[in-house]
Amino acid sequence: MATLAAAVLLVALPAGGQVDLGTEEQRAAGKIVYDKYCGQCHGDTGDGNGYATPRVKPKPRDFTTGTYKFRTTPNGMLPTDDDLRRVIEIGAPYTSMPGWPNLTSAEIQNVIYYIKSFSPDFENPDRYGEPIEIPRPLESTEESIARGRVVYEEQGCAACHGEVGRGDGPSAPTLVNDKGDPIKVADLTQRWTYRGGATKEDIYRTFSTGLNGTPMPSYADSLEIEDRQHLVNYVYSLGDGDDPNYGTLITAVYSEEPIDLEDGETLDALFETAPMTRFPLVGQISEPGRNFFPSVTSIEAQAVYNRDEIAFRVRWHDLRADTSGRNSPSLEVPMWDEDNGIGAEAADDGGDDFFGDAGGDDFFGEFGGEEAPAEDDFFGDSGGDDFFGDGGDDFFGAADAGPPGAEFSDAVALQFPASLAPEETPELKPYFLYGDSQNPVDLWFVNLTYGVADTFRGRGSESIEPTEADIVEAVTSYDQGEWTVTYKRRRSSRAGVSFAEQQYTPVAFSVWDGFNRERGNKRALSSWFYVYTEPSVQPATTFPIVRAAVIVLVLELLVVFLVRRRARRQAAGEEAAGGTLAATEAPAV
Ligand code: HEC
Ligand code: HEC
Repeated sequence: MATLAAAVLLVALPAGGQVDLGTEEQRAAGKIVYDKYCGQCHGDTGDGNGYATPRVKPKPRDFTTGTYKFRTTPNGMLPTDDDLRRVIEIGAPYTSMPGWPNLTSAEIQNVIYYIKSFSPDFENPDRYGEPIEIPRPLESTEESIARGRVVYEEQGCAACHGEVGRGDGPSAPTLVNDKGDPIKVADLTQRWTYRGGATKEDIYRTFSTGLNGTPMPSYADSLEIEDRQHLVNYVYSLGDGDDPNYGTLITAVYSEEPIDLEDGETLDALFETAPMTRFPLVGQISEPGRNFFPSVTSIEAQAVYNRDEIAFRVRWHDLRADTSGRNSPSLEVPMWDEDNGIGAEAADDGGDDFFGDAGGDDFFGEFGGEEAPAEDDFFGDSGGDDFFGDGGDDFFGAADAGPPGAEFSDAVALQFPASLAPEETPELKPYFLYGDSQNPVDLWFVNLTYGVADTFRGRGSESIEPTEADIVEAVTSYDQGEWTVTYKRRRSSRAGVSFAEQQYTPVAFSVWDGFNRERGNKRALSSWFYVYTEPSVQPATTFPIVRAAVIVLVLELLVVFLVRRRARRQAAGEEAAGGTLAATEAPAV
């Protein structure tokens, strides 16, 4: 009888979810938690416009819209309380949304009720949907991954995510979120950047239900459960770990071989012997050209050297090769084009709905900045409306209007101190933003429009001069969303740093994404790390083997000795019958 009543009750409820808005007391208690911990980002009124909002990307969720990304419920539906609880407990990785492990279960429930009160959608039973079930993941066998690859192709994931998942699909540059702001496609090879979580279950959920408010669709209707499990295994196989494993050191390995930049195959083989290190890149926010949100967030680097020369190879992912525009480390960035986000609201009031959208920006810099000047240099030196190609106002428009960002090219630079710090103070390094007047730096700069290396001497951002003291060569290539740039220079230098064996040389990196309008001081950059030139003469290779053999021998002798001693003690113990073994026997051994 009771079960029947329950069944009837269930039928009467909206599919999947019960409208549960909590009691007034619970919401009031939730407000206290919210005002204390959440309002600075999500805004006092839940509109996503807290005081920290201009400084974070992606933007905090606007709770008034009822649009949520990380859900077990079908596309377009509201999240369950459990979905919300999950995000609140663990946060959204790779965004500013922290996890809140210190909140009690009741506090979380209360804040959930309070968040729900920001949107009338939660009162509407039609907005609730049945959560999907997430099956236990299949083992990542070769067959499963291969089947997943087929599904990936059939379903057109590559159109956005790219052939091998680097976020470089043909649609990637055109994607916008539901507020009309450009949004970056996830780089599936960098699992640590997944905002909804990187476990197989998370991946299954993400593409099954889609991410509301973004172009990431739902595949629940188009894919059988088993194919979804194979697809999970394929996506998972694209990444090389849950962690970026950032390092601080490039180890340059010695080779007898000549370093020939023109001979790609031999060059690749040479670099295969060198360990690869990943370094984090961030925006610089302390000088004009401020960039809070560079699009490239890490770079991988390797180095090899021979008797006379040293070569560096760097790699990073970029959604598109921008190879037609201009770029230079010293290009000036007008204040309105800085990515400082602060005061963007003011620009928004200007009525221009392309520049200066304070809210909802998911990826690219605010084009607004402090305040967009009304006329003259607003559209740059080039003057007039050809800033965005023919159309001017049609940013994402027809092909002949020129793709967005085509004005600036992609570029990269290695930065070294012009001379090493004195031995007593090895920690002294030039200022990491292009050096300073006392401690200049050398930049090996490659504008990827030309693919050759230009050298600059930097004495701070205000003083960057071309130099020709050393010849640096470079070769570049772009393949499926990845740039590879290989540099070569003589190890000894007349004017700059020389790379002696067993030397630690500071090195820093800069990457400019032309698509994101990065140039000059608006770029992704690293702090100082080191390159270590490993000794050319390694200890004889037989040494470790001999050492291992000796260790094994010693261990064996020890075991034999211990076993014998024990046997002797036992024998002695039986004789002594009750005597204190340790005391009597120990000296005898
Ligand atoms: C430092 C800024 C910051 C703070 C503080 C913060 N959040 Fe967030 N929150 C974010 C950002 C950014 C996102 C959007 C992540 C994304 O779009 O991938 C977000 C997203 C969310 C989401 C939406 C998840 C989804 O499925 O779309 C919820 C729910 C949420 N936050 C709850 C909270 C709660 C509750 C608190 C306080 C206990 C809080 N947040 C504090 C920045 C913040
Ligand atoms: C129309 C473009 C588009 C297509 C097609 C597409 N995606 Fe996405 N996908 C996106 C965007 C955009 C994001 C980033 C959303 C965000 O950061 O909020 C994303 C994010 C993701 C994420 C990471 C989510 C996270 O937690 O950050 C995964 C995994 C993913 N997609 C898998 C897939 C798979 C698998 C397919 C094909 C079955 C697919 N996507 C098809 C646009 C697309």
